[in-house]
Amino acid sequence: MNGIIPVVLAAGQGTRMRSDLPKVLHHLLGKPMLNYVLDTLRELEFNHIGVVIGYKQELVKKKITGEDINFILQQEQLGTGHALMCAESFWENAEHVLVLNGDVPLLHSSTLKELMISHLEQNAAISLLIAKTKCPEQYGIVVKDKNGQIKGILEITERGKFLEPTEINAGIYCFKTSFLKAYLPKLKLNPRKKEYYLTDLIALAADNNEKIVAKEAPYNEIIGINTKRELAKAMHVLREEVLKKHMLNGVTIIVPEATYIEPDVSIGKDTIVYPGVYLQGNTKIGEKCILGVGVIIKDSEIGNEVEIKPYCVITDSTIEDKATVGPFAHLRPGAHIGKEARIGNFVEVKKSYIGSGSKACHLTYIGDAEIGKGVNIGAGTITCNYDGVRKHKTTIEDAAFIGSNTALIAPVKIGKGALVGAGSVITDDVPPNTLAIARAKQTHKQKRRK
Ligand code: UD1
Ligand code: CA
Repeated sequence: MNGIIPVVLAAGQGTRMRSDLPKVLHHLLGKPMLNYVLDTLRELEFNHIGVVIGYKQELVKKKITGEDINFILQQEQLGTGHALMCAESFWENAEHVLVLNGDVPLLHSSTLKELMISHLEQNAAISLLIAKTKCPEQYGIVVKDKNGQIKGILEITERGKFLEPTEINAGIYCFKTSFLKAYLPKLKLNPRKKEYYLTDLIALAADNNEKIVAKEAPYNEIIGINTKRELAKAMHVLREEVLKKHMLNGVTIIVPEATYIEPDVSIGKDTIVYPGVYLQGNTKIGEKCILGVGVIIKDSEIGNEVEIKPYCVITDSTIEDKATVGPFAHLRPGAHIGKEARIGNFVEVKKSYIGSGSKACHLTYIGDAEIGKGVNIGAGTITCNYDGVRKHKTTIEDAAFIGSNTALIAPVKIGKGALVGAGSVITDDVPPNTLAIARAKQTHKQKRRK
C-alpha cells in the first residue's frame, strides 16, 4: 500500500512461554508464528518488511528467511515502544508505519487492509485494531472518555487483572510517521516494568488532540500468544478455520475435533478423512481418496481415488491414482507408488518406484529399488540395499514374481517375467522369463528309531 512500510516487533524472549525458544519461533500448525504475520503482509504485496529482533537473534535469522525481510536489532529489550525507536532508520522515509506484534499471528489480510484504508481515508495520526472480549486477561484495555473518545491504553501492569467484558488493544497499529517522529521521543520508561510502552503513544495522541481511529476486529483474529495455553487456543482457532475451508470445498471429515490439517495442505472434493488423520507441510491430496484412521502424511502428493488404510506414515512420497496403501505401511522419502499399485500391511518403502498394478502386500522392505509394472512381491521379501558402507539398487522388471521370504542382495536385477522361488537369497541377476531358486534343496532322511 502506497507510502506505508510494515514493521513487525519480534525481539522479545517471551518469558511467559517458559521456553528456551524465542516466542515468535514457536510453531502454530507446523510453522513459526512469526511466519503467519509475514505471510499476511506478503498477501498484501509488501515486499520490504522490517522485523525487529533481539533475543536469540541468530536463531531467529536462521529460521525466518526471505529476501523481503530486513532485520533490525534491538540489543536490549526495553519494550514495544523502544523496539519501534530502534527501527527508525527503516521507517523514517515512509509516510506511514504499519506496526504489528510478532505474536499476533491469526490476523487476516483483509482486516489489515481495512485498517490501512481507513487510516489513509481518515487522515489519522494513529489507527489501531481493537476487539471486544469477555475477559481481557493480559491484553491492554481501551480507555474512553464519556463521549466515547479513546484516551489511552491501560496495561495489566497498571491496572492488575480486569475480568469484565471490555475492548482490548490488538497490538496492530498504523502511525503517521510525522506523529511518531514527534512523540516517540516523549515516551517515558514505565516505572514498574522498566520498559517503554508503545501503547503510551495513544494517551500522548489524545492529550495533544491528534486523531485516533479505532477499528474493531474479530477477537479470534487478534489473539496474542504469551503463554503455551494461548498457543493452544490459537492453534484451536486456526485448525477449525482450516477444517472449515476443506469441508466447504467438499471434503468429508468424519470427526473434525480429532483431525489435524496444516494450512498449506490441499485436498480434493469427496475425499473422506477419518479421525486421527494428521496432514502436514506441503501435502496435496486428490479427489475421492480415503484416508483411514491414524494416517500421517507429510510433504507428499496423493492422486485421485487412493485409499490409505489405517495407521500409515507417509513422508516426501508420491502415490498415483487408485493405488492402495496400508494398513500399517511406512512410505519414507522418495517412495513413488504407481497407478493401481498395492502396498499392504507392514510394508516399508524408501526411495523406490513401484510400477502400476504391482503389489507388495505383506511384511516387506523395498529400498532403492525400481520395480516395473504388474510385479508381485511375496510376503517377507527384503531388498538388501545396504552393505554397511553404501546403498545399492535393486531392479525388478515388469511382470516378475518374487516368492515369499526372498532376500534380494543389491545390486541385482530380476528380468522381465522372471520367477524367483520362495525363500531364495538372490545374489546374481536373473534373466528374463527364467525361474531362479536359490535355497538349500529339501532332503528327506529316514527317521531314526528310538
Ligand atoms: C502488547 C500491548 C498490549 C496489547 C497486546 C496485544 C504493549 C506495551 N502492550 O502487550 O496493549 O493488548 O500486546 O497482543 O505494547 N517486543 C519487542 N521488543 C521488546 C518487547 C516486545 O520486539 O522490547 C515484541 C515481542 O517480541 C512481541 C511484541 O513485541 O512480539 C509484543 O510484546 P509482548 O511483551 O508480548 O506485549 P504484550 O504484553 O502482549
Ligand atoms: Ca503479546
